Amino acid sequence: MKMRPIQSSLVAVAAAMLLLSSVQAGESMSTASAKAIYSQGEKSDYLAGFHQKKLSADCSSCHPGDKVSDGQTEIDQKCVSCHGSYDSLGKKDMDAGKKISAHAGHLSINSCTTCHGGHEASFAYCNNCHIFEMPMKFGRQKEAYLPQDLSIYRDAVANRTEEADFVVVGAGGAGIAAAIEASRKGLKTIVLEKMPIIGGSSLLSTGGMNVAGSRQQQAAGIKDTPQMFVEDTLKVGKGVNDKVLVEVLAEQSRSALEWFEGLGGKLDLDPGVYGGCQAPRMHYTKSGGIGRYMIKEMKLALEKSGADVRVNSQVVRLEQDENGRVTGVLVKGKNTGLYRINAASVLLATGSYANNGALVSKYHPEFFGMVTSAQPGSHGDGIFLGKAAGAQTTHLERVQVHPNIASGTSLMITLAMRTNGGILVNNKGQRFYNDNAPRNELGAAMLKQPAQKVWLIYDDAVVAKRPKVHQGYVRLGVVVEGETPQALAAKIGIPAEEFAKTMKRYAEFVQAKKDDDFGRKELPEPLNEGKLYAIDVVPAIGGTLGGLRTDARTRVLDADGKPIPGLLAAGEVVGEWHGEDRYGGNAVAGNIVFGRIAAQEAAAAVGK
Ligand SMILES: Cc1cc2nc3c(=O)[nH]c(=O)nc-3n(C[C@H](O)[C@H](O)[C@H](O)COP(=O)(O)OP(=O)(O)OC[C@H]3O[C@@H](n4cnc5c(N)ncnc54)[C@H](O)[C@@H]3O)c2cc1C
Ligand code: HEC
Ligand code: HEC
Ligand code: HEC
Ligand code: HEC
Repeated sequence: MKMRPIQSSLVAVAAAMLLLSSVQAGESMSTASAKAIYSQGEKSDYLAGFHQKKLSADCSSCHPGDKVSDGQTEIDQKCVSCHGSYDSLGKKDMDAGKKISAHAGHLSINSCTTCHGGHEASFAYCNNCHIFEMPMKFGRQKEAYLPQDLSIYRDAVANRTEEADFVVVGAGGAGIAAAIEASRKGLKTIVLEKMPIIGGSSLLSTGGMNVAGSRQQQAAGIKDTPQMFVEDTLKVGKGVNDKVLVEVLAEQSRSALEWFEGLGGKLDLDPGVYGGCQAPRMHYTKSGGIGRYMIKEMKLALEKSGADVRVNSQVVRLEQDENGRVTGVLVKGKNTGLYRINAASVLLATGSYANNGALVSKYHPEFFGMVTSAQPGSHGDGIFLGKAAGAQTTHLERVQVHPNIASGTSLMITLAMRTNGGILVNNKGQRFYNDNAPRNELGAAMLKQPAQKVWLIYDDAVVAKRPKVHQGYVRLGVVVEGETPQALAAKIGIPAEEFAKTMKRYAEFVQAKKDDDFGRKELPEPLNEGKLYAIDVVPAIGGTLGGLRTDARTRVLDADGKPIPGLLAAGEVVGEWHGEDRYGGNAVAGNIVFGRIAAQEAAAAVGK
């Protein structure tokens, strides 16, 4: 590749950029010193300096104009114009025989500057969840995305003001659904996402989406009703769920699925039944994880809808008038600084606080240091933003312990491997609990096992139901396989004869349709078909169940139970709908159901 020297407007660019960064830093520098810093000084030790010193690039090689936007897309386009697209780089890596490429991820990333820094160290975003060998030029291993104390912005001053009908805080499943719906209704909608990519934890969901009374269930001859869905959700949640929210979820689950299908999505019915529930109702995709598939489809619809989506843009304060009405937000843009957006409605769709260790261990000191499978930005900002605006928070101690994280990573192994037949054994080679019990129960049981060591075991019959997902785990190197129970036991270091006895006994229970040891009700597979597989799993924080209190219209309630005008919330930031424990598959459905309701509320607020 030949470098094209670009001489134009170098000084002007540098001067304008200086202005920008000095506004941010709150100090003034001369044009010459700015150029010095970015071309020879402390900010030139990285990729930008390398391109300038070694390749005679200048500022305009990477900066087409005099402004650096928060999303940095104008820089990305420059990278792509010389190096090729993200996908083409991925293809090159794969053609070169790489098994895993940072340029072929599953996060719908297309922004180079997510990982490659210009004037700061690069890092492989992948390693915020995985542990890959990914040495980067001018790089470090990973970025620590730590929770920020938002109260420092209480008196901060905005440098400019914009106007919108509807502001969506957080671009996960709930926020994206709301933004698509609102834009389609003609609302001027701005979506703010603090991370460099959109998708949130929603991108990571692997299991599926719960729906009652779907076309897919009818085609399979399965009887299911919203009423049965409500009963099952309350059962898993131990009856303390806000029943009104659960009813809305169940009644609108079918139209949520149809809405997704209307965007061009396609889901099938998973035959597995979640512990103790009355019908199979999880809908999934044969292409692999549900989250990556849904977010990809929804991202396309979002782009078409005309909503204005801004990454690297964190909401740090809710703006309120003297009557307490929420009138907008204060945003911290990565490069453009603090600004205000006025809006008739603000939706908090900020997801969980699973990655806020301080908040979780305040209620659960025993979970201190436990890993989480949530995305790195799940800090609970929405809880703090809401609280500062007078919102009621509820049951923040309700945290979900997921039993299925691949040891040494933050990779959640989908519960579908268990609902479709997998079992759990401890390091004595024995089962220890109903392996299809709700997650919190299983998580607690796991913590009591010797050395807290547990293996998820499944066979080729289970693989046949989720082949793509299984292949992914194999690619990641977390799966051990064996031809016989004895061979597998030897490989994972558990007592072979005891494990073989466990497997034989379990197959007999499946045959007899009755689990005499632990009372597991759904016994879909005897686990004696083809090869056997084992994944070393540990419990981790899978998500959070407490949060803001809302009514059935997604309006955020204050301490007296009255709606705070202008403020809505949807998704995992909302408390009470899951009760004590979340029925796996309800979150993905709820994102669409409540995201759409929030959009309808926002539309009504501006008379649309
Ligand atoms: C590994 C994994 C697997 C799962 N599998 C399933 C499953 O199969 N089925 C199911 O139903 N559920 C599943 N869940 C749970 C489900 O994915 C989540 O509950 C749900 O997706 C949350 O959606 P959300 O839109 O509320 O939040 P998220 O998708 O997390 O989105 C919130 C977004 O808000 C952003 N944000 C936060 N604070 C701010 C701020 N101050 N300013 C701007 N942006 C901000 C975040 O960065 C994030 O992108 C799974 C969860 C995980 C972690
Ligand atoms: C004007 C063209 C041009 C632009 C714009 C550009 N690069 Fe480069 N870059 C090159 C050339 C030429 C090289 C040296 C040859 C090579 O290694 O591909 C290089 C080298 C690199 C390398 C080091 C390769 C190695 O391991 O030695 C990385 C990483 C890189 N560029 C990333 C980026 C990123 C990220 C951007 C955008 C922020 C960017 N480049 C913008 C042309 C460009
Ligand atoms: C998810 C993180 C990530 C993203 C996004 C990313 N890269 Fe990379 N890139 C890496 C890592 C890690 C390496 C080091 C090589 C490796 O081991 O994969 C690398 C290496 C490179 C290299 C040098 C080696 C090579 O493959 O030629 C270039 C050039 C490069 N990236 C350009 C880009 C461009 C252009 C984009 C945007 C289209 C981009 N990268 C997006 C992580 C990323
Ligand atoms: C190889 C591409 C590249 C070149 C060349 C480059 N930059 Fe950048 N610049 C970036 C990237 C990428 C960012 C985004 C923030 C980061 O990663 O450091 C950025 C951000 C900035 C910012 C805003 C953020 C900050 O760090 O203050 C300023 C100002 C800036 N560049 C100035 C310059 C100037 C002045 C020059 C020329 C002397 C220059 N850049 C040359 C890639 C480049
Ligand atoms: C926010 C956490 C997170 C980040 C960041 C992340 N992953 Fe993953 N990754 C997961 C989870 C969870 C799974 C399992 C669920 C699934 O397959 O969707 C997974 C699965 C995988 C798999 C196996 C499935 C498959 O597609 O073959 C590969 C390979 C993989 N990731 C590569 C990457 C690469 C490369 C990157 C960086 C570009 C990356 N991941 C970034 C969480 C993450």
